[in-house]
Amino acid sequence: MNQDQLKQLVGQAAVAYVPAGQVLGVGTGSTVDCFIDALAADIAAGRLAIPGAVSSSERSTQRLQKAGIPVLDASAVERLAVYIDGADEIDHQGFMVKGGGAALTREKIVADLADRFVCIADASKLVQTLGKFPLPVEIIPMAAAQLTRRFAALGGSATLRAGVVTDNGGHILDVTGLSITDPLAFEAEVSQWPGVVTVGVFARHKAQVCLLGAADGVKTLT
Ligand code: 5RP
Repeated sequence: MNQDQLKQLVGQAAVAYVPAGQVLGVGTGSTVDCFIDALAADIAAGRLAIPGAVSSSERSTQRLQKAGIPVLDASAVERLAVYIDGADEIDHQGFMVKGGGAALTREKIVADLADRFVCIADASKLVQTLGKFPLPVEIIPMAAAQLTRRFAALGGSATLRAGVVTDNGGHILDVTGLSITDPLAFEAEVSQWPGVVTVGVFARHKAQVCLLGAADGVKTLT
């Protein structure tokens, strides 16, 4: 199976985690695209009904709406039972690096509304230690040089993602060379640097369940 087939596999498996009759939190990315397609197929076949979804990006909003699934504003809900999203890296504790698709800020906002984060990914995303994937950080543009120096002091090398403006008007730094051995402490520290909108370490909002697509099927980590 190639990577696209593995994404379809976990996208389909994630539908089992959708609470019937409840608003669902929906993440962003190519794996989530597969999930939205599988969700739409179940709804169209009458196997599942939900009142709508809270989306973490314009990209997912468009796909949900095209599938006829109503998209609600995040401010319209007090809580979500489940949030389903992909990851760029996930470790065995459920800590993740996210933001490869530049949607990390809204992803963290929607994850914060949810009781349960269900991560969907192909098995190549499972790592021992976070940091091999360049860490995305959404920033206020005027802080770019200072934040680059701060990451350098941690041993990281930050590069501005060329031509990318997020759904919120922010820019993205991608930071290589980090080994994030304490994701909770790292997230807490970087989150308070002036000019950081969102750091792509999801430790406080870690996954409670991870569905990993592999050649021999879907593995569930809890
Ligand atoms: C977007 C994300 C995505 O969840 C992450 O980049 C994984 O994407 P894909 O499913 O395309 O591999 O964090 O901001």
